[in-house]
Amino acid sequence: MSIAIGVDVGGSGIKAAAVNLETGELASERIRVLTPSPSTPEAMIKVVSRLVKRITTTLGAPATPVGVGMPCVILDGATVTAANIDKAWIGFAARDAMTKAVGRPVALGNDADVAGLAEMRFGIGASDPRVRIGVTIFLTLGTGTGSALFNDGVLVPNSELGHMEIRGKDAERRSAAAARIRRGESWKYWAGDLDEHLKAIDRILWPRFFILGGGVSKQGARFIPRLTCRPPVMAATLRNEAGIVGAALLAGDIAAQAQEDPNR
Ligand code: BGC
Repeated sequence: MSIAIGVDVGGSGIKAAAVNLETGELASERIRVLTPSPSTPEAMIKVVSRLVKRITTTLGAPATPVGVGMPCVILDGATVTAANIDKAWIGFAARDAMTKAVGRPVALGNDADVAGLAEMRFGIGASDPRVRIGVTIFLTLGTGTGSALFNDGVLVPNSELGHMEIRGKDAERRSAAAARIRRGESWKYWAGDLDEHLKAIDRILWPRFFILGGGVSKQGARFIPRLTCRPPVMAATLRNEAGIVGAALLAGDIAAQAQEDPNR
């Protein structure tokens, strides 16, 4: 069985587990700790490395690859934006710092990108091959709205559709799941806000499908039938673990590539 450790770093919690890369199932207990406050790189990396150590000790497999998903644009291993975490992450060489702290190469990706990868491999992408043809957009609705853009099943990273401007503000301020609670909205009202975001995306990218993930996707029946956008909308099937599974997948893929091409 091939295994990697996935870490999902968010503004409120940091979650980690070992993942069976063949099935996408968790291969260890899932650990969740609160995000330190302030959520500076130094404080967060300490937590990440502690979680990884705990899992590798339980597994007895110290060399397991590690992948981390973060709510940031990631370019060349650096965190370039920081939407719901400390601004010290902006322009920070995160991959190198984590590699040093964890003591082995760490793969780093945007949290929504990696959750989308997991959904494509083990969720709807596995059960409904139509989403692997042409453009599919995966959105994760949580504290913010994250996005993963796929063409023929291949990820185009860092799409950041949560930050498109709608009514003069970041779209995620109304379409994220947290916005519904913060604004005290009914499901019906919030579905209207989300619909507006989906329609704005559709006008630019014309996807064949939208897949909606994040914890709220298990309540899909409350809002998906109310959406009137052109592309069909599906609820993600992996739910909350998608971020962990996707981060582990990224680590596994990078480890496999390095074996094929050691100069990469
Ligand atoms: C961030 C994205 C992230 C999303 C979900 C947004 O605010 O800009 O990078 O994917 O939140 O966490």
